[in-house]
Amino acid sequence: MIRAIVHADKEWGIGKGNDMMFSLPKDMKFFRETTVGHTVVMGGNTLRSFPNQKPLKNRVNIVLSRGHVQDECIFVRSFDELKAELKKRETEEIYIIGGGEIYKELLPYCHEALVTKVDAVGGAEVFFPNLDENANFTCVYQSEPIDDNGLTIRFTTYRNDKRIPL
Ligand SMILES: NC(=O)c1ccc[n+]([C@@H]2O[C@H](COP(=O)([O-])OP(=O)(O)OC[C@H]3O[C@@H](n4cnc5c(N)ncnc54)[C@H](OP(=O)(O)O)[C@@H]3O)[C@@H](O)[C@H]2O)c1
Repeated sequence: MIRAIVHADKEWGIGKGNDMMFSLPKDMKFFRETTVGHTVVMGGNTLRSFPNQKPLKNRVNIVLSRGHVQDECIFVRSFDELKAELKKRETEEIYIIGGGEIYKELLPYCHEALVTKVDAVGGAEVFFPNLDENANFTCVYQSEPIDDNGLTIRFTTYRNDKRIPL
């Protein structure tokens, strides 16, 4: 199963200045609990946005990058190489964790997208595709609103009805 996992603001914005726009401890806890023990896939910019450019602990980290190298990650150099790596792992739970370029490239291959919607506008420079305007995706779950560090968030799940096989 391949899922994208993301938090996005009211405009589907996800980041600016190669960083997150909000500090959301409850969403971070959900992200950690969902992804720990599984495989995460990210782009070079997202890896470089982490503290000391270190990968996420207790997860297999796959990074799509033309240049970046880091001992604790599996690096793939092209989209075809990434698809081959994911195909080998088709029985695993795989989470696409960003950023904008990687979400856009991999969304057609995702079974689902776990989107934490933030009821705010963060002035983003990087965006997630608007799934409410994408005929291939259906929102199948939306939580009650939750206060997270002074912001209102909702956990949602979108199902890809037209998934493309790897
Ligand atoms: N809100 C959220 O949930 C969330 C989650 C994750 C990230 N973000 C945010 O998203 C932003 C980063 O997104 P982004 O779009 O700038 O970057 P990104 O998707 O993280 O990474 C882009 C990089 O991936 C590599 N890449 C992409 N396509 C490739 C291909 N076909 N072949 C080889 N390499 C390829 C290149 O890396 P190299 O430059 O290394 O060659 C490229 O520069 C940040 O602001 C971050 O905080 C938000």
